[in-house]
Amino acid sequence: MRAVVLSAFGGPGELSVAEVPDPSPPAPGFLVIRATAAGVNPVDVRTREGGHAARSSVPLPMILGWDLSGMVTAVGAGVTALRPGDCVMAMSAQLATGRGTYAELVTLPAEVVAKAPDTIPLSETAGMPLAALTADQALELLALPTGSAVVVTGALGSVGGFTVQLARLRGLKVTALVRSEADTKAALALGAAEVAVGKIPDRAADGLLETAGIADAISGVRDGGRVVSVVPTRTPAGERGITVETSFVQQDGRRLAQMAKLVDQGKLRVRPAARRFGFAEAAEAHRRLAAGGVRGKILLVP
Ligand SMILES: NC(=O)c1ccc[n+]([C@@H]2O[C@H](COP(=O)([O-])OP(=O)(O)OC[C@H]3O[C@@H](n4cnc5c(N)ncnc54)[C@H](OP(=O)(O)O)[C@@H]3O)[C@@H](O)[C@H]2O)c1
Repeated sequence: MRAVVLSAFGGPGELSVAEVPDPSPPAPGFLVIRATAAGVNPVDVRTREGGHAARSSVPLPMILGWDLSGMVTAVGAGVTALRPGDCVMAMSAQLATGRGTYAELVTLPAEVVAKAPDTIPLSETAGMPLAALTADQALELLALPTGSAVVVTGALGSVGGFTVQLARLRGLKVTALVRSEADTKAALALGAAEVAVGKIPDRAADGLLETAGIADAISGVRDGGRVVSVVPTRTPAGERGITVETSFVQQDGRRLAQMAKLVDQGKLRVRPAARRFGFAEAAEAHRRLAAGGVRGKILLVP
């Protein structure tokens, strides 16, 4: 099978398409997915650069990628909830397991895989797992009571876009921080009650969910409020009795399945992919993401 392989840490040019062995028949509890698309995420860019080398034991050459949509081709013993032919999506913690998704065939534990929503194209689904799980788990950690006011930074980013929607579904009043006036309409369409351009109101919110690496955004939280950041390198220091925590996404097929249902019920929107690149254009896909300003997901298609 073909896969996008990283041979050495460095620039986008270190990514190349290679012929690698097909997966073995799946072990008990595992399944094999033929990929329709893989999402491209900031973690992939940083891993390629070697920025996570100190905390990962995955050897080079490695296959990058956390997000996947596709069709099940084989299941191991004991896998009963999914069958060959099922359309699925998954988030694979590639840094921990080495199970990258930039490949034609991907073997994963069944417990991290969920049926894909029926109401959107399967390839678009690859833009959902990592960002939606990150948003959901960070909101869970933030644990604000219904009716609280929350600021979401990077509100039009991949994680931010799901955070705004899922916060609203939890009954929170969202102020979305965006970069420019041109982003206002899109933030309101995601369910933000208010949009702040560039600067958030001082000390007005009960909580902050920080996805853009803007540590100063803590100024928007009232004394004694709560902050959860998903950007560990830029998590704000605590001040004024504010609790600050960092959230790290965990694989969770069961929760992904629940969010697929929200998509099919029209309660959660997966925005159309911003760009699609073939495997041979993986380097270009990484350059595009690193350049910033992407509104929606970049997908890699085999
Ligand atoms: N902890 C975890 O488990 C976890 C999981 C997933 C992601 N992450 C991290 O979360 C962050 C967001 O990921 P993502 O996939 O959502 O990335 P993304 O799609 O690039 O979103 C980031 C958003 O923040 C915006 N932004 C950045 N600086 C800004 C500023 N000063 N003012 C206003 N907006 C600003 C960006 O706008 P522009 O595009 O215009 O710059 C972009 O819309 C990344 O650092 C990623 O590594 C962490």
